Amino acid sequence: MHCYPGFLKSLFLTFIFYLLIQNACAQGIITKRLSRADSIKVENLISQMTLAEKIGQLTLLASAWNATGPAMNANYEQLIRTGKAGAVLNFYTVDKVRELQKLAVSESRLGIPLIFGNDVIHGHRTIFPIPLGQAASWDLTAIEKAEQIAAMEASAEGINWTYAPMVDIARDPRWGRVAEGAGEDTWLGCQIAKARVRGFQGDSYADGKHVLACVKHFAAYGAAVAGRDYNVVDISPVTLHENYLPPYKAAVDAGVASVMTSFNEINGVPSTASHWLLTDLLRKEWGFRGFVVTDWTSINEMVSHGVAADVKAAACLALNAGVDMDMQGSAYLNNLGELLKENQVTLSAIDEAVRHVLAAKAELGLFADPYLFCNKQREQTEIMTKESQDFARELVAESCVLLKNYNNTLPVPPGAKSIALIGPLADSRKDMLGNWYSAGKWEQAVSLLEGFRNRYSKQTKIVYEKGCNINDSVVNGIDAAVKAASEADFVILALGESGDMSGEAASRSNIDLPGMQYQLAEAVIKAGKPTAVVLFNGRPLAISKLNQIAPAILETWFGGTQAGNGITDVLSGDVNPSGKITMSFPRNTGQIPVYYNVKNTGRPYSPDRPNEKYVSRYLDCPNTPLYPFGFGLSYTNFTYAGIKASIEGNSITISANVTNSGKRDGEEVVQLYIQDKVGSITRPLKELKGFKKLMIKKGESVNVSFTISREDLSFYHPDLTKYWEPGEFNAFIGGSSAELISASFKL
Ligand code: GLC
Repeated sequence: MHCYPGFLKSLFLTFIFYLLIQNACAQGIITKRLSRADSIKVENLISQMTLAEKIGQLTLLASAWNATGPAMNANYEQLIRTGKAGAVLNFYTVDKVRELQKLAVSESRLGIPLIFGNDVIHGHRTIFPIPLGQAASWDLTAIEKAEQIAAMEASAEGINWTYAPMVDIARDPRWGRVAEGAGEDTWLGCQIAKARVRGFQGDSYADGKHVLACVKHFAAYGAAVAGRDYNVVDISPVTLHENYLPPYKAAVDAGVASVMTSFNEINGVPSTASHWLLTDLLRKEWGFRGFVVTDWTSINEMVSHGVAADVKAAACLALNAGVDMDMQGSAYLNNLGELLKENQVTLSAIDEAVRHVLAAKAELGLFADPYLFCNKQREQTEIMTKESQDFARELVAESCVLLKNYNNTLPVPPGAKSIALIGPLADSRKDMLGNWYSAGKWEQAVSLLEGFRNRYSKQTKIVYEKGCNINDSVVNGIDAAVKAASEADFVILALGESGDMSGEAASRSNIDLPGMQYQLAEAVIKAGKPTAVVLFNGRPLAISKLNQIAPAILETWFGGTQAGNGITDVLSGDVNPSGKITMSFPRNTGQIPVYYNVKNTGRPYSPDRPNEKYVSRYLDCPNTPLYPFGFGLSYTNFTYAGIKASIEGNSITISANVTNSGKRDGEEVVQLYIQDKVGSITRPLKELKGFKKLMIKKGESVNVSFTISREDLSFYHPDLTKYWEPGEFNAFIGGSSAELISASFKL
């Protein structure tokens, strides 16, 4: 009999656990990474938490280390100690993370561990090319590897949550944040979003070397009117679904752990207040099971948006829309208790938000080991390793895009005995990191001048003249620069933007080369020596005038820690450039937005009828961009022929022969575009539907084949259903969106 009560007790506990599991399943938080034991742990915790502790888990506070937004004061240590903060951002190093984690785990009542977030956007200590540059590599494997290394280094310093990938599609280079994304194309943006999530999150967090990813900025932040940051987004539902939403969904389908809401409104409703966006679409339609965090104080900013009379009303909107965690605004901290009392929010909504946050902490393994990411030994051995630097250097070279190479000016002739490096970016380490460089130290970056000195022996004389500054009207250095150029065998002009002229809050109304750099280039090129321009920029620039006078132009973006070495590998010819731009370069700012997947309009301009008046054109500028999406040259040449399209069952196969007709081996990004010639709504003239990056040896020909399905041709209709329509299609294959061969097929 003695055992009898014990048997009953275990039966009762089993029944309770069963109910907890059912509840967790019903809440949809049983994810492929969350064990049943952890799910029970989460439910158990929720059942013990006070309201203040629940609200604490929904509160993300920033350190005073480096504010990445309008800093709001908060005594974060006291809040952590009393269980009123569930996560912090912009803190790292094992010592600091351990110190704060201890406050949470040892001093707060329930000891719930913190998560530590940071903007690991293109590397943590080893900084890789900015995302717009990495995208130009079209190398998904390399992009994934860069995120793996970033996650390894970040987690070695205590970070377990990154605010990346940024997947905002953007067609307006006035917007400074194009630097953080993958460019203008939706399909490519989806592939890169998936690669980045895979790189950050891996298959498990158990090794402590992977981090929660956070896809941002949900949604359509890149469509800000006039490219002015934080501005309104006003687009049709079809455009929103067809062009802007897919990369976020791709990240969700790849299992992204969190989503960050965007600052902007979409058609009148700020993302952070949009129940349709955050609950109906993200959770119900897409099945997202992670947690939703706001961008920096974007709850508070709903007062400025004019949709909330005060922060309390804004907090009510946000929670009821589906926001789980409030970044740095303390809007939940200061208002959810009252809102609950007034029945403006429900306890179940608060519990649901807490459940999403605790599930993420459980997935990370923090309940089992709150100090999993506090490994001093890893911090000392896994950061800035030689392997990481070597890989970073390769990725720099692979991200470079050769935009012009008249008369094979590049690579620098091996016989050059003296090389002049001229320009305000030639000897800059700081600008090499670009924007959002996390814990990167610019002092560890390699400038272009250092890259040349590392590569060329003492027999080659390397001289440097700044010539002018990046963005002012001083010209007193131009004469010395012209003199240096006239005395050299080869001239490199290092021009462009400073690293902080792109990124957040860095919109430009004029995207010309800044300052007096064009005047410097004009004077130096007139010296008549073989000259190549090396561009450093975070966005496409309007460089039509420079393009007219420069014999060669190499786009290098901001290459990060190994910029100088990687770029020099390309300029010297050690590496054959293979990059292709993923965002069109406009001829001038007035042409914006200019992108490749345009529609025909009812009065299309035709180059065959250049003087036709009543067509869609400008009086003073062609419709085509200076450099089109998918464009990039090589030190060799590729020719395309023999395109074929065939249909078998649900598969459509398009193939072509690609020949390396030049004098050296090279990699080519072979691109597939499709045109749906007639639709029930207007359709773009071409849409990227596939690519293959392959090495082709000199003189060799390769048959490249793509297979797509009918579903790949589906598109959103005005009623937001998505399906393909039978009819005539054109398939195009080529090395850029503007140089293609075509074949047609019918479905
Ligand atoms: C910033 C950015 C966002 C970033 C966050 C945290 O305002 O908009 O991209 O992740 O704040 O730094």
